Amino acid sequence: MAGKLSKKARAELADRKRRMAWWHEARFGMFVHWGLYSVVGRHEWVQNNEQIPRDQYEALARKFKPKRNCARQWAKLAKKAGMKYMVLTTKHHEGYCLWDTATTDYNAAKTGPGRDLVAEYVAACRGEGLKVGFYFSMMDWHHRDGFKCCKSEPARKRFVKYIHAQVRELMTKFGAIDVLWYDVSYPLNAKTWESAKLNRMVRKLQPDIVVNDRSQMPEDFGTPEESIVAAGAGRAWEACMTFNGSWGWVDTTDDAWHGARDVVLMLRQCVAGGGNLLLNIGPKPDGSVPVQAVERLTKVGKWMDVYGKKCVYGPRPRSDGLCDVGNMIVWTRGRNPKRVFAWCNTWPNGEVGMGWFKGKVKRVKLLTPQGAKPVKFTQTPRRLVITGLPKACPDKAVGIAILQIDCASRPTRKMGIHTENAVVWWGDYDY
Ligand code: GLC
Repeated sequence: MAGKLSKKARAELADRKRRMAWWHEARFGMFVHWGLYSVVGRHEWVQNNEQIPRDQYEALARKFKPKRNCARQWAKLAKKAGMKYMVLTTKHHEGYCLWDTATTDYNAAKTGPGRDLVAEYVAACRGEGLKVGFYFSMMDWHHRDGFKCCKSEPARKRFVKYIHAQVRELMTKFGAIDVLWYDVSYPLNAKTWESAKLNRMVRKLQPDIVVNDRSQMPEDFGTPEESIVAAGAGRAWEACMTFNGSWGWVDTTDDAWHGARDVVLMLRQCVAGGGNLLLNIGPKPDGSVPVQAVERLTKVGKWMDVYGKKCVYGPRPRSDGLCDVGNMIVWTRGRNPKRVFAWCNTWPNGEVGMGWFKGKVKRVKLLTPQGAKPVKFTQTPRRLVITGLPKACPDKAVGIAILQIDCASRPTRKMGIHTENAVVWWGDYDY
């Protein structure tokens, strides 16, 4: 296959592999949506949804009073949760820039807080050893040409120049940036945005950067939103998920928040499909993290401390050919092709059987906060039965413990239905 590619295409693939090595290793990142909409607390689209007049919305900047270096709390929490990178909304659709830009005074340094909030964020990420990502909305509700650009060529030219200049600043003012996360490219298209030129500039300024697919160019990775759907084989992807149904801060009830267990299940789904998880927090206007996020991410971190290294981080084959039964036990593969992990979403009562397991099992270990413990098993052509498990789930953080199964060869499963002694195959399970 690789032999059929042109020299240029091969070089591009090799370069992508090099640039994305850390990203595949990282698996788990924190998304941060924060801007003037946080002051309102009714979703980051509030300006558009409620049709707030421009001058009224601009006045929010005076009420935006972030605590100095509040980004340190985000970064510390991200690290504690086992996240390896962060992505901050440097500018959301509202058009208000969190950095000190020369392109407009509608920015945090000149209007409102009087500080460059992106600089604080970058320092906070680096302080915790996290990779730095910039979200940047191409759509801009504040710029006078933000919509006119699709009706008038002079307006388009002005607006595209403005957007390219902003991206250039972001790519030059803060040192090495690890991720550029474009968002909504309405109302132009790749050609009228001059996206190819834009991304050429980005890569020239930041040769190691990883770029998402929302400038209407495929670039390095796909971005399923609020759903965890794997991209086709060979294509990198990252599912971005809200924590409580809104990206920007909203004061919801505790029940509206995903639990720590839900987050671990999201991670499991990403691992199974070979993708990353970018989980959002929407800090309050003063920059503090909602307590629900702190509480849940702290638990996720406890779980990641035990299971992250073996079962989550790093490139590994997708779960193809394995299948899940009743959501009791769900499978992912290890970096080692002869190893699989059985995530016990529901703790089995002392013993658990797995039908249609193919591959000679050599060893089974129960992974616990106290270490890996060998467990007994018996295997027949149709069943693998693991016995002698503790009555209670050894994981107290979220109630999901994992069995590590090592085989003599790459294991697979085929799912079927028993009919007397025969098995009706359901065929290969396609993740
Ligand atoms: C969307 C929304 C936006 C959010 C983003 C996150 O496109 O417009 O509010 O920032 O996706 O993925």
